[in-house]
Amino acid sequence: MTDDQKLRVSKIQNGTVIDHIAGGQALNVLAILGIDGTAGEPISIVMHTPSDRLGTKDIIKVEGRELSEAEVDVLSLVAPAATINIIREYDVVEKHRVNRPEEVVGVLECPNQHCITTENEPIESHFEVLEDGVRCTYCDTIIREDLAAHILAG
Ligand code: CTP
Ligand code: ZN
Repeated sequence: MTDDQKLRVSKIQNGTVIDHIAGGQALNVLAILGIDGTAGEPISIVMHTPSDRLGTKDIIKVEGRELSEAEVDVLSLVAPAATINIIREYDVVEKHRVNRPEEVVGVLECPNQHCITTENEPIESHFEVLEDGVRCTYCDTIIREDLAAHILAG
């Protein structure tokens, strides 16, 4: 196949490409980053494209926005193998892996209905990141499976 035949989504001029997302996780990555398209920037999502390393992978291209390292690290919870590419004038000027953050604030909802963060208090959720899950700082509830199901909306 030539490169033209393989191209699904065109290269972008400026912005951020999140590559090597495990197949099927792109929408969870967008949710965990709080990107819902309402800001009006062009966003391309490719899901289940063949990958040598991952079997299939997803790719997200956000145009006109350079996502900072601190901003993207939270996505490692749903896509640990992701690479972040910063694009300027069609060139990849920066490429790095995501790092597992030590804590995540305001991103996940505690599954404990009696946790202070889920009652009507103005208290943001706060989780400590463990090797195999996350632990609520307030009530010690641990989430190990399916973190994506606990992502707070908007
Ligand atoms: N990309 C893009 N627009 C550009 C440049 C790159 O959308 N102007 C995308 C590519 O399609 C690819 C990712 O950004 O999905 C990384 O580009 P590049 O580093 O050129 O690709 P690879 O060498 O294959 O990356 P890696 O080694 O990380 O797999
Ligand atoms: Zn809690």
